[in-house]
Parts: sequence; C-alpha cells; structure tokens
Amino acid sequence: MLEIFRQLEETRAAAVMGGGQRRIDAQHAKGKLSARERIELLLDPGTFEEWDMFVEHRCSEFGMDSQRIPGDGVVTGYGTINGRMMFVFSQDFTVFGGSLSEAHAEKICKIMDHAMKVGAPVIGLNDSGGARIQEGVASLAGYAEVFQRNVLASGVIPQISVIMGPCAGGAVYSPAMTDFIFMVQDSSYMFVTGPEVVKTVTHEVVSAEELGGATTHSTRSGVADRAFENDVEALLMVRRLMNYLPANNRQPPPHRDTPDRADRVELSLDTLVPANPNRPYDMKELILKVVDDTDFFEIQPEHAKNIIVGLARMEGYPVGIVANQPLVLAGCLDIKSAIKAARFVRFCDCFNIPLLTFVDVPGFMPGTAQEYGGIIKHGAKLLYAYAEATVPKITVITRKAYGGAYDVMSSKHLRGDVNIAWPTAEIAVMGPKGAVEIIFRQDRHDAGRYAELAEEYRTKFANPFIAGRRGFIDDVIVPSQTRTRICRSLAMLRDKKLENPWRKHGNIPL
Ligand code: HXC
Repeated sequence: MLEIFRQLEETRAAAVMGGGQRRIDAQHAKGKLSARERIELLLDPGTFEEWDMFVEHRCSEFGMDSQRIPGDGVVTGYGTINGRMMFVFSQDFTVFGGSLSEAHAEKICKIMDHAMKVGAPVIGLNDSGGARIQEGVASLAGYAEVFQRNVLASGVIPQISVIMGPCAGGAVYSPAMTDFIFMVQDSSYMFVTGPEVVKTVTHEVVSAEELGGATTHSTRSGVADRAFENDVEALLMVRRLMNYLPANNRQPPPHRDTPDRADRVELSLDTLVPANPNRPYDMKELILKVVDDTDFFEIQPEHAKNIIVGLARMEGYPVGIVANQPLVLAGCLDIKSAIKAARFVRFCDCFNIPLLTFVDVPGFMPGTAQEYGGIIKHGAKLLYAYAEATVPKITVITRKAYGGAYDVMSSKHLRGDVNIAWPTAEIAVMGPKGAVEIIFRQDRHDAGRYAELAEEYRTKFANPFIAGRRGFIDDVIVPSQTRTRICRSLAMLRDKKLENPWRKHGNIPL
C-alpha cells in the first residue's frame, strides 16, 4: 500500500513539474505564468479538481516512446469562480510546447463533454505550438474533435478562450468558435500561417507581433475581444466577465445586489447632447451614468469604435449594451461595427441577457470601400441579429436615428419591447440637409431658399413626435430619468416569453 502511495506521489510530482524546472524558468523569463499558476489565479483558491493527470501520449515515432510526461501538456479539471462551477483546460507550454496530441485532445474533450452534461462554462487557457508534429493526423483528428464540441456547445454554455502564448495554424479555429477571446500583450499571437510562410508565399515581411499579436487582433482584425497587459490581468478579467454570464442557456444571468438606486436621477444627462446636431458627445458618458455603479465591461473597446458593446447591470441584473458612438465616424454603421454589434447581440440572445440599445446614428457609411466590402451583407447581420433576438429589448434614441440604421438599431418594428426617445431625438429618413438636397433639387442655386427648406424639414421631421404619434416610440422622456425608465421597463419585461417559429436554423447573411 505504501508503495502505491509513493508511486502516486511520484507521478503527481512529475506531472506538476511538466517539462521540468528549466522550461518553467524559461516560461517565467518570457513574463508568462505556468499552466498551473494560471489556474490558481483563475479559480477560487483551493477549488480546482484536476482530472487526467496520469494521461500520457501513445506515440512511439521519432523517439517519443522515451519521452512521456504525465498529463501530456494540458492541465484539465473544474473549480469555481465566485462560487460558480467552471470547467478549465490550461495548456502547458513546457511539455512539447503545449502541442496537441491525440491524448491531449481527449482530455480537453472530456471536460467539454462534462461541461455540457452539467451546464457549466468552459474556459480554455491556450499556450501551444499547435498540432503535435510527431503524431501527424492523429493530432489533427484531435483538433477536429475539439472543434466539433465547440460548435455543439455554442449557444448552450459560455466558452471563453484566453490566448497566453502561440496559437497558430488550424489551432486558431477552436478559440475562434468560442464566445470571447482575450489575448495578452507581447506574449500571445494568433495566425493561420506564421511570418515565415507569409514571406514565402506573399513576399510580405512581417513580425509575429504585427501579424497576429494582441494589438493587431484587438484593434484591426477584431478577432480578439480584449487585450491585457499580462497573464494576471487577463485571468482576473475572465473572472470579472464570468460574473455577468449564466452557467448555460437555460439559466438567467446571475443577479448581484447593488446600492445604486433604480430611481437615481442623473441631471447632467439633460445637457449631454449639444444643441448643434453636428457636434459630437461621448456616448460612453451616458452608459456610465446610467448603469449600476458606473461599472461597464466593454467588449472590443479598441475595434470599430463607432459602436460600443459590452456588459453592465441595471438594478443588479446583467444587460448587454449596444450604443452608437458619435465621437467616432459620427456614429455611422459600417462593416466592422455591424459585425461587432451583430455578434454581441446574438451572444446576449443566446444567454438570456436583455439588450439595451442607445441610438445616435446618421446612417450607414457611404462609399466604394464599404460597398465593395459587402456592407449590404454585413449590415444585414446586425438587422438579422436584432430581428431574431427574443430577449427583452429596450431602445433609447438620444439624437439621430436616420434611414435604414433607424430600423436596424432595435426599432419597434424589429420587436423592440420598449422604445423611448430623448426630446433631442431626430427620427427621419435622413438629415434635413440631405433631404432638402434631394427633394428640392431644382432650388439648389438658391442658398437662402435651401436653408429655409432645411429648417422647415427639421421642424417637421427632426424630432421624436412623428414616430411618437405612430406608436413607434412609446414615450419621450427627460434624459435625467433614463435610468429609472430603463429599470422599470426591465422589471416589467423580466418574465417576457417570445419564441421564433421552429426551424433547423436560420440563414443569417454570413
Ligand atoms: C511538437 C513542439 C511543437 C509541435 C513546439 N514544440 N511546437 N513539439 N509539436 N507542434 C516543442 C519544441 O520542439 C520545443 O521542445 C518546445 O516545444 C518549445 O519550442 P521552442 O521552439 O523551443 O519554443 P519557442 O522558440 O518559444 O517557439 C514556439 C513556437 C515554435 C513558435 C510555437 O515551437 C514553433 O514554430 N512550433 C511549430 C509550430 C507549428 O508549425 N505547429 C503546427 C501548426 S499546424 P524542447 O524539447 O526543445 O523544449 C497546426 C495544425 C492544427 O497546428 C490543425 C488543426 C486543424
């Protein structure tokens, strides 16, 4: 018996040491934590239950039979974040570069299957050289098994990926199919083909950082949802994110008590929108003043900044916020912002998170770059996402709501539950100047007449009352009352039930 205990201790110690002290030191020297240290930080202290510590690869090619490390390059198991159950895998770069063998993939699949059975999120900490080269197709098969599970779990349990080292080749597609991707500055990168292959094929010379670093993906490509300074910050932010999310699609998101009163009046909002309709203001100020405790978890804050998306709470209940940002491109909708917002709307709808939309949108961005890039299809994604969403939908129009963009931004016509406007709202087919230039083209040489007609158009249409008369706007409110009105609407909608017609799945314009 004692001998078995001793063997157990030895195997555990070997698994904990992974690829050995030298490689752990090398990991630390790069500013990276080890796979186990990351789990310690991510989960509540002492809650991690590890599985499959004894699993080894089964490869004997290229001298692999003499190199077996218990655990085979990935630490898997479950534990809690603020008392709520989460499944975790954490790739260990010190063991064969965290590369994915068949056995490594089986460990990940096992926790994914359990997460689906019990309805709990999966958090993947990725740090891997990709497919285990010595294993060939067995490793590729392992990836595909993970991909298949990612897809079946999509919309059922939240899946979060943190990229904390290399993630290249087909390996990027598992994170790509999860709900959120966080990256770490200077130590993580994602690309389908690395700089060397890029150089050979396209003759472009580019560094790994430029091609697929955290800045590239959180600003330009939009592949990453957030980029953090280091491992510690990234892990703490995952903990924060999880506080907004339900365990699965059948549960409501978690409530958190707040001292912030639902009837708090925010007088400064009465003067937020400038008198001149062409002057911008910061929509983030409105968001921070309306939500609980000025606490807003923004998603993709550095990408497509003309739209703001993120999570917050109202009276302690999580909400997903989508808001046009007049400070950037006048808040126009373009390809990137439509994709960013559409994905977020669908995420919220999957996981029973009500949608709160703040509208100040002059329309879709004109131009060949947008048309050639497919704005028709991409803009339609946002329209589609709002139209299919069945969660409570509350819309506040603060200023411009013009043209198709008015329809798209959670309008009454797309089953908006509560649609309210500030007195500064202008709901029309287009702005007064553009409208007059089209309908009174014959008067274009008479600047005075033009200005007169534009003013007439403004008085007639650039206000919330025409929409109000049709019932497209439920009420016109004093801006300082916005929080109260939203909280009441959300309370009224708490038991909302709405189902879309049965279908295998819709055909969203991809
Ligand atoms: C086996 C690997 C490995 C891999 C790294 N290692 N990647 N072992 N399979 N894919 C091992 C190295 O041999 C080394 O072992 C240790 O991990 C650390 O690697 P280093 O190269 O010393 O580290 P570093 O300089 O930091 O470079 C990291 C790296 C590089 C950029 C990831 O290792 C690399 O380019 N690896 C190959 C990446 C790759 O082409 N993978 C296949 C992609 S295709 P020792 O014993 O020296 O410590 C793919 C397909 C997925 O993944 C398909 C899904 C459909």
